[in-house]
Formats: sequence, structure tokens, C-alpha cells
Amino acid sequence: MIKYILALRDWIDARFPLIEEWNKHAGQYYAPKNFNFWYYFGVLSMVVLVIQIVTGIWLTMNYKPSADLAFASVEYIMRDVEWGWWIRYMHSTGASAFFIVVYLHMYRAMLYGSYKRPRELIWLIGMLIYFTLMGEAFFGYLLPWGQMSYWGAQVIISLFGALPIIGDDLSLWIRGDFVVSDVTLNRFFALHVIALPLVLCGLVVAHILALHEVGSNNPDGVEIKEHKDENGIPLDGIPFHPYYTVKDTVGVVIFLILFAAVVFFWPEMNGYFIEHANFVPADPLKTPEHIAPVWYFTPFYAILRAVPSQLGGVIAMGLATVLFCFLPWLDRSKVKSIRYRGMNYKLALTAFTISFIGLGWLGMQAPTPLFTWMARGFSFVYFMFFLLMPLYTSIDNDKPVPDRVRF
Ligand code: HEM
Repeated sequence: MIKYILALRDWIDARFPLIEEWNKHAGQYYAPKNFNFWYYFGVLSMVVLVIQIVTGIWLTMNYKPSADLAFASVEYIMRDVEWGWWIRYMHSTGASAFFIVVYLHMYRAMLYGSYKRPRELIWLIGMLIYFTLMGEAFFGYLLPWGQMSYWGAQVIISLFGALPIIGDDLSLWIRGDFVVSDVTLNRFFALHVIALPLVLCGLVVAHILALHEVGSNNPDGVEIKEHKDENGIPLDGIPFHPYYTVKDTVGVVIFLILFAAVVFFWPEMNGYFIEHANFVPADPLKTPEHIAPVWYFTPFYAILRAVPSQLGGVIAMGLATVLFCFLPWLDRSKVKSIRYRGMNYKLALTAFTISFIGLGWLGMQAPTPLFTWMARGFSFVYFMFFLLMPLYTSIDNDKPVPDRVRF
């Protein structure tokens, strides 16, 4: 049997760079030997991407993208399609899981300075992935055609109306109608099931190619390519396969156990993963009492609401996401890893983390004067983290970085 498999491999290899590519990206790709917990989230993002694509294909087999039928078709999937509830809950839980792993993945880059030279492009491609993911989640959320789907889309699309000159035409163009309607649902469906997933997959391939061109960073922020043996192999590197394929498998199994626990026992997550109002069919004549996006958008939603003018809010919200793209250039420190940074960056990152989580919580609450002022305070800290970064990182009391990675 093995003989035939090897013969098939050689047959393919004579016609396609199979072994060459495998070696380049796994067998002879030397990764730093000190990857820690934070380095699981890249592979976990890939796992969730696959879960979303596979469950999405099966959902599409029974879903109807029409304002009259969408809500009922989701109920049909939940009640009558065999294992339909399981597929749907995997997809809805997968959406939140995607943002959890991607936020932790991005945070890792902020801890270890992975966005810094020479990895700026990996970071920028990552940001494109993040923006595409936000679009993917936003378009997907309209599809069940529940009250929150409908009114969430209505609120967000009408925000574009605040832009000067083109605003009204732009929101009309996005909706394809004067209100969110069947036309909107149809185009969101097309974007959600094919256009954005294609873009996402292409970007992930580009992300990995860019990563393998320069090599991975690590928790010490040391460039392992600077110390090689006589064969050109980094002294602090180990082949990705088998070392990290095995290590990542452990992470993936633990993740899948947690994921299954949520899918089977807490799929709505008390309204955080599937909002309660979304169990009510969309009613264009009845606005829900309290409209809030799903948790992964709430930090930005809180920033939007914190600014008194609508246009100002939209600009602040856009800026809050786009500013991440500039991190490689805003950060003037010569040190990558937080292990060797001075107090300035450590305090700034802590303040930013508290503000981000605080804004996320505030974005879920109904606004009160106190909450609005708190959101203003957190938004201020959030923006100062980025805007003052060139200053506090250039005068930071960084520590000496070791030559080689430490265990
Ligand atoms: C579908 C989403 C994504 C997938 C599948 C993905 C996949 C990966 C993988 C497999 C790695 C190598 C393993 C690791 O370092 O954990 C990686 C590294 C990296 N990713 Fe992503 N990623 C995604 C989104 C993002 C986003 C949104 C950003 C930031 C905006 C980002 C920034 C980075 C950076 C800077 C590295 C290099 C890290 C280092 O070497 O320390 N990625 N990504």
C-alpha cells in the first residue's frame, strides 16, 4: 500500500512542486523554538475559517435569501433539517469564535511587536483580513432576518448618510432601496456567501506567504535568522513540521473541546452570541427598544455614540479601526517584545486594553449620561494610545535585548 502511495506522490511531484512547497512551508520552514500560548491563535483562525466555510455551505443548502422566507427557513433549519440546529449553532458560535481568536492574534502582535519591520506587510494584510471579516460578519448578520438583523443593518447603513455630499446616495446605493428590504437581503447574501469568503481566503494565503518570506517573530522579539549554523539553519529555529504541527494539534483539540461545549450547552451565550431580539422576525414597522450590535463591534459602537455629532461619531469610529494600520510606523521603539520594553509602553498598552474592554461593555448598554461620559473617557485613552505612541515609545526606558532566544 505504502509503495503505491509513494509512487503516486512521485508521479504528482514530477508534475507539480509538491515536495518543494511542503518543505518550504513546513518540513524545512524553521520557526523560533520559543513559541508560547499566544502563537496558537493564527492556526486557530484558520480552523475557524474552515468551520465557517463548511457550515456555511450546508446552511446555504436550506436557507432562502428572501425577505418573506428567510426567517422561516432558519427556523426550518433549526427544527426540521437533520442536524440543522448543529450546523447553525456551529456557524453562529463560529462567528464569535472568529473574533475571539483574531482579537487575541492581533493582541499577540501588540505584545511582541510582530507588526514591526520587517513584518509590516504581514500586519497590513492582517488588517485587510480584519476589515473583510467585519464586513463578512455584518452582511451575515442580516441573513436570519430577525429584529436585530433588520434594525442593526438599518442603523449602520444610515450612518453613511452622515457623510457630506455623497452620504444619502451612498446609503441608498448600499441598501438598493429606501429602507432595508428584500433587495438588500439578496445582495448581502451574495456578498456573504461568495464575494467576501473568496477575498478572505485569498488574503489568508497572502498573509502566510508574507510571513514565510520574512519568518516568524517570537516572544523574545529576536530575529532568529541573524544566527545561523554552517548549513544556513537558524540556531534558534526548529522545523515547523513535526514540532509545531504536533504542538498546534494540541491547541486545536483544546479549542474544539471548548467550541463544542459552547455549541452544545450555551449557543446563545445569554444573548452575546445570538441576541434575544433576533428570535423575533424582522418588523420594519416596529423598532426594538434597544439596538446594539454583537459584542465584537461594540467597542467601536461605543466610540460612535460617545461623539455628540453624527458625522464626528462616524469619523471617530472609522479612525478607531484604521489607526491599527499605522502601528508599524507609530511605534518608534527599537525593541519589539514587551519583555524588554520600558514602563511607558507597558502602561500605555494596559490603559488601551482596559479602554477597549470598557468600551466593549459600554457599547452593549443602553446609553445613560454616566455611561456616555465613561465612553468619552475611554475613547480619549484609546486614541491617545495611538496618537502619542511616537512620543512615549521613543523616550521609553527599554531594556537590552538578548542576542539569542531564551527559554
Ligand atoms: C482569518 C484570519 C487570520 C488567519 C487565518 C491568520 C493566520 C496566521 C498564521 C497561521 C500565522 C502564523 C502563526 C502565528 O503567528 O500565530 C499568522 C501570523 C501573523 N498574523 Fe495572522 N491571521 C489572521 C488574521 C490576522 C489579523 C487580523 C492580523 C492583524 C491585523 C494578523 C497579523 C499577524 C501577524 C503580525 C503575524 C506574525 C506574528 C509573528 O510572527 O509574531 N493576522 N497569522
